[in-house]
Amino acid sequence: MVKKYVFGSPFETEAVTAGIEAAEYAGQEVCEDIPMNISLENGFCCSCHINDTDVIYGLGEANRGINKRGYKYVSNCTDDPNHTEQKVSLYGAHNFIIVSGTKHVGLFFDYPANICFDIGYTRQDLLTVSCERADLYLYVITGESAYDVTKQFRRIIGKSYIAPKYAFGYGQSRWGYKTADDIETVVSRYRDNQIPIDMVYLDIDYMQDYKDFTVNPERFPDFPQFVQKMKENRIHLIPIIDAGVKIEDGYDVYEEGVEKGYFCKREDGSNFVAAVWPGWTHFPDMLNPEVREWFGGKYEILTSAGIDGFWNDMNEPAIFYSEEGIDAVNQAIAEHAKELDRADSAIAVPWDVRSCIDQLQNSPEDYKRFYHNVDGKMVRHDLVHNLYGFNMTRAAGEALRKIAPDKKMLLFSRSSYIGMHRYGGIWTGDNQSWWSHILLNLKMMPSLNMCGFLYTGADLGGFGSDTTRDLVLRWLALGVFTPLMRNHTALGTREQECYQFEHIEDFRHVIGVRYRLIPYLYSEYLKAVEKDEMYFRPLGFDYPDDRRAVETEDQLMLGSEIMIAPVYTQNVSGRTVYLPEEMKFVKFMPDGSIYEEILRQGTHYVDVALNEVPLFIRKGKCIPVVDVAENVDAIDMETVRYLGYDGAEYELDA
Ligand code: GLC
Repeated sequence: MVKKYVFGSPFETEAVTAGIEAAEYAGQEVCEDIPMNISLENGFCCSCHINDTDVIYGLGEANRGINKRGYKYVSNCTDDPNHTEQKVSLYGAHNFIIVSGTKHVGLFFDYPANICFDIGYTRQDLLTVSCERADLYLYVITGESAYDVTKQFRRIIGKSYIAPKYAFGYGQSRWGYKTADDIETVVSRYRDNQIPIDMVYLDIDYMQDYKDFTVNPERFPDFPQFVQKMKENRIHLIPIIDAGVKIEDGYDVYEEGVEKGYFCKREDGSNFVAAVWPGWTHFPDMLNPEVREWFGGKYEILTSAGIDGFWNDMNEPAIFYSEEGIDAVNQAIAEHAKELDRADSAIAVPWDVRSCIDQLQNSPEDYKRFYHNVDGKMVRHDLVHNLYGFNMTRAAGEALRKIAPDKKMLLFSRSSYIGMHRYGGIWTGDNQSWWSHILLNLKMMPSLNMCGFLYTGADLGGFGSDTTRDLVLRWLALGVFTPLMRNHTALGTREQECYQFEHIEDFRHVIGVRYRLIPYLYSEYLKAVEKDEMYFRPLGFDYPDDRRAVETEDQLMLGSEIMIAPVYTQNVSGRTVYLPEEMKFVKFMPDGSIYEEILRQGTHYVDVALNEVPLFIRKGKCIPVVDVAENVDAIDMETVRYLGYDGAEYELDA
């Protein structure tokens, strides 16, 4: 059952699509199953007691565990590439949680600004959700189980975006590919080494001076022809689009935006100026439908050149610094001129100056400096901050549906809010080449699925820092199962394309396994979209009465047939797995054979070499596997065979 309560005057985020009548909150009990204490005295604050064994699921793209207990999280879309344990905000804002114990209660706080989830942090037995203003919708969902509550939630937020089948292929990316030649080299090295691939990503250097919807003519002398040539080689080029529009006379997107008043404004009506990759930029007012239509329409510049997929970036929106921020630094420097003159070490730089510099990036003050035009009313950005990435991707999604109504396009975003799942997927942003980030990748997946984001994945191999061969292989073996399977890394880091390492055949094999599984994985993905289900689930969703399963956070259920348990530590020859029931342990071996062994319920140590891909088939189930193909189009369904338990059947959703 779903109940909707209204507090104050909420902003219409459009996260929820179902028409549900709202009850005005007037001090009543909002949930019979778990009593909530709501206070409106100082903003909004909702708290409830949590029992020792209650599990708190949710929060989508958030740090730490699948069970969110024992820490605090703040929904505040942030461009922060260092996802260390203490970080409370990442790129997305997904305010849905489930308190799951003897009762199962889902809570969705539809509120587009900062909101804090203290989940047993201040007091271990207390859940407190608070925000500055008591203007929000609260949805309270009760059900039989955590999964039942999730499905009810998914039904009210609308169907998830469907990615094209080619987007289940492998993609190679690197911030640093500059020219058509660079891209051709990547493609030919993959093809020459017979490593399957379907996509190469174009990071910011394909643009002319980082201007959205432009292509550098020296680096790509005939872009449409190049796109076509790649297509003939079964490669989709996926360009990046950034949120900020470069300020430059003669640049049409900038000039049109200024003329039509489409950029976010300061209080005095001038266009807000922020520095991002292109230097000084303006932010299109993505909350205004007219602006969305205009900005979305620009994607046609690239689709008409043959492009059929995009990644939207820097859309928290990220701000390196603002004019006001620089003014503050200059002022602090002027005030401390004498001391700075005498400073003979960085430590001696006056605190005021250093703190001004530290606060330049993504400053909360800057987010208070610009406004959106919502139905003729000026709304200060910080009050709707978490909706920016959602609406940028909505602009693109709506436009792409118009441009090619019968074609599925690939679209994913860095920043998001619930509701954006109807328009595109997400990737989990700038992770690091750390072993702990394989596990973080795994743990985020089911939480994201709960919030409707099914087409997701992380930068495989790690974005920041230098990677290692074994890290890439182990991470790819998880990536085999994530809808988005992309190897991406940052400028200046060690090259991590599969052909950069010794024994390329191991990479060929691991990625080949992905292609052998694509019919199954895409089918389970489509079923999850159609039925508002989860592609990835925590074990506790399938085995709620098995405490050991509920507490297992390094394995996931995938679709209705399998469980995955990737290796995420270095220098090991396998790992311990917990089987809540008998399963068939399957390993795709480097010689192309498949190892199968039935394992009984309980704990096992399984050997998994760097070049093997393990999975577990549930008792009585089977999955289709095909032969390896060089790309998604080349998958031959004639080669299908079924792997798993004798007598089991599988229905393919193609
Ligand atoms: C951001 C993105 C990253 C990209 C880089 C350059 O950091 O998250 O994926 O490579 O910008 O565009």
